[in-house]
Amino acid sequence: MFIIWEKKYETNITIIDRQHLKLVEITNQLFEALEESGGRQMIPEILQKLREYAQIHFRTEEELMERYDYVDIILHQNEHEDFIDKITEFYGKLERQEASSFELLTFLRSWITHHILEEDMQFAKYLKNKGVQ
Ligand SMILES: [Fe+2]
Ligand SMILES: [Fe+2]
Repeated sequence: MFIIWEKKYETNITIIDRQHLKLVEITNQLFEALEESGGRQMIPEILQKLREYAQIHFRTEEELMERYDYVDIILHQNEHEDFIDKITEFYGKLERQEASSFELLTFLRSWITHHILEEDMQFAKYLKNKGVQ
């Protein structure tokens, strides 16, 4: 396992936690594919799945932000957009062998965990105060 889910990542907003867990799961699948012989050819497909699922997840968060008038929405949205752009960039770089899968995984782990612990946690606290569970 590449990212180990810990209690500290829990926002206690059910839908968000479920989706975060799934994002972590797909990232771990990427890692496992690298460990397997012949698994490397699965990377583009899994990365595509990660990008698609991240978009679904970001939309969920942004809809909640709109519904509850979250003041830092633009900042948070920009972070989400940067992540999708970065994945797209990696997609091309991996193909052209300008980046390694290790760099990709390191980036994913760092971004996902930091974003959850900082931006998402702040937003979840706001939602909690509004009575969302
Ligand atoms: Fe977020
Ligand atoms: Fe999130």
